[in-house]
Amino acid sequence: MKTVEKTIGVMDPNAFAFRESVEKLIECLAPSIEYNGVINKVSTRRIKCRPYDVLNAKTTCHAIINRGAHWNPHHNSFFQRVSHQTYLLNDMGSFFAINKNTSYGHMSELGLKIPNTFALPQEDNTELENSTKVSPDLIFPEYEMFNLEEIGEAVGYPAFLKPQDGGGWVGVEKVDNYEELLIAYKKSGEKPQNLQKAVDNYKEFVRCVGMGPDIIPMHYNAASEYSHDRYFRSDDVVVDTNFLEKDAEKEVKQICKVINAFYGWDHNSCETLMTENGDIHPIDFANAYPDSSLVSLHYYFPDLVKNCVKWMLFVVCSERKKKIFGHDWDAYYKLKAKADKENWSYHKLLDGYEKLADKHYATKDFNKFVKNNLGKDFDKKCHDFFSGEEFDTILSTEVERYFKIPAERPAKIEKYRDIHKLWLDDNK
Ligand SMILES: Nc1ncnc2c1ncn2[C@@H]1O[C@H](COP(=O)(O)OP(=O)(O)OP(=O)(O)O)[C@@H](O)[C@H]1O
Ligand SMILES: [Mg+2]
Repeated sequence: MKTVEKTIGVMDPNAFAFRESVEKLIECLAPSIEYNGVINKVSTRRIKCRPYDVLNAKTTCHAIINRGAHWNPHHNSFFQRVSHQTYLLNDMGSFFAINKNTSYGHMSELGLKIPNTFALPQEDNTELENSTKVSPDLIFPEYEMFNLEEIGEAVGYPAFLKPQDGGGWVGVEKVDNYEELLIAYKKSGEKPQNLQKAVDNYKEFVRCVGMGPDIIPMHYNAASEYSHDRYFRSDDVVVDTNFLEKDAEKEVKQICKVINAFYGWDHNSCETLMTENGDIHPIDFANAYPDSSLVSLHYYFPDLVKNCVKWMLFVVCSERKKKIFGHDWDAYYKLKAKADKENWSYHKLLDGYEKLADKHYATKDFNKFVKNNLGKDFDKKCHDFFSGEEFDTILSTEVERYFKIPAERPAKIEKYRDIHKLWLDDNK
């Protein structure tokens, strides 16, 4: 049988443990996978930032794990240049086009329970005023005056004012009334904002991370002082793997999978808030660079790495192609129109969207590939890797890189080793 070499490019300059684990796990698996009549030998290659011949640009990578090109225009232009020759996880064309408010709008139109949200133009126009490239006398008459108080009333209080393309909670302000809204908007600066009704007194905050059709739901404690402590269940309990009822788990996974498939995103996170009556509201779900740090994800980290490796192996072995973003939106909107006409329940509608999402991800073929082609010993080999010295070095290096006070580090490393041991025991 013919043997074909397949290369997965890896570009993630900010997440040390994630990229190291993906690379080292693939090396350790040494995949030699029979699929569609050929043997696929898969390896990885680190993609570095360097000059390239624009007119003759080629990539030798059959797929590229792109995490972070939106911060590096040179990387990004290279990836977009060769995007049709490879499979980009994720492609920035879609992430640049879709920010928080556009996705809130589309998903609300599809029937997801998005809180009331108004998009507001940037408060500070100094950059435009001082620009030599625009004519202020033409630009500013095109701006309409608006009544912020009326918008605040229409959205409802309490509400969150947050940048349309925000991240890391930067510039996120909770406001309880118009006076607070006015102060927050006045200081919001040059970034267009979203004013969103708060989902108050929610009983559960769930953050899902998707990798292809695999979705991991995680409990999230937004009240934690440090961002790296947010995935702990409580001060005493590290993780609760049964924190969601079956129906709620199904729903949060469906929401994340449907959003990701709708935009053609392979790797994205979705934050949802669940109220006492069981309603689930998505509040943040357009993240080109989902937090995949070992220090924040701890227990969940090995499963995310495994999901990434499984999905990338499927992508290169099945020679999966990526269509231009937004290619099958009509199917979702058609389904919504049918559901409205026939008075479907919300859950029947979600089931319908999930079928479209599974078609997008070829989920059936993917699951078959995992079962038959990765084989019975895939989980065992992964477990061996995560119990080995190589991973222990990744873990301790990541923890040392993250915690800046040297005296703190030995205890932190032990703590993360203990948490990791929980995962090893649960997955024996
Ligand atoms: N509508 C809402 N109802 C309740 N809480 C909200 C709402 N919107 C935002 N928040 C709170 O503010 C936090 C930050 O908001 P959001 O996730 O939209 O910003 P972000 O900058 O993208 O954050 P990150 O990068 O951590 O995801 C949320 O994690 C949540 O705790
Ligand atoms: Mg968020």
